[in-house]
Amino acid sequence: MPLTHANAFSKLDEIADTALIQLVYVSSLTLASRLNAAIFDEVEAHARDYNEQHGITGTLCYGNGHFLQCMEGEKAKVAALTQRIFADKRHKDVQVLVLQVITQRDFSDWRMRLLFLERWLWSPATKKQAAQLSPYLPFAPHGWSAERTEQFLQIIKTFDTPPHIKAAGITYNALGNMVRHIAAPHQAFLVVQGFLSVLLVIGLALLYL
Ligand SMILES: Cc1cc2nc3c(=O)[nH]c(=O)nc-3n(C[C@H](O)[C@H](O)[C@H](O)COP(=O)(O)O)c2cc1C
Repeated sequence: MPLTHANAFSKLDEIADTALIQLVYVSSLTLASRLNAAIFDEVEAHARDYNEQHGITGTLCYGNGHFLQCMEGEKAKVAALTQRIFADKRHKDVQVLVLQVITQRDFSDWRMRLLFLERWLWSPATKKQAAQLSPYLPFAPHGWSAERTEQFLQIIKTFDTPPHIKAAGITYNALGNMVRHIAAPHQAFLVVQGFLSVLLVIGLALLYL
């Protein structure tokens, strides 16, 4: 059962500052952020430096307008970063899915590795990973149980290289990607519909003018 903000922070208070913990939360991009193509680079660049300096490992997944981030490290460090991330206005609807004391990290990579859970961004060379991730697509992690979250993390932690990215795939902003994805397979339909709409407008104009 996902934790509310307040519950997550009061549960954090009960854990010793030096304990090693894992915190997984989900959130959604705000509409304004969907139009900002640079958000992934900005977050990744910030995370790379900050997380390394503070001994925080993990992964940041994005797909379908949602984030899932797993952070591992000393409780005091993870709690401080969590406060800042939760206050970040670029995303909303934050839910904590997992908060637990761990004995070892799932992710040993210092960088906050960014993984795109968007099928059309993946290169054909990574079919095997795509097949493993299929049960989790379209990506909608709000309300996932701790078990489902754990299963998902167990899969992605085995990836040496994440299953992205077709060249230039992420130069589109998130909304542009979505439009492109929806429109591309239906081009013929959209052209015909557009033509019929023009005829309808001309017909109505002739009728009433
Ligand atoms: C989904 C998401 C994940 C983020 N993850 C991290 C992270 O792992 N490490 C980090 O330093 N900043 C991360 N950030 C950026 C922080 O929210 C914040 O912008 C940054 O720490 C700068 O904080 P400041 O403006 O208080 O200095 C993330 C932002 C978002 C929207």
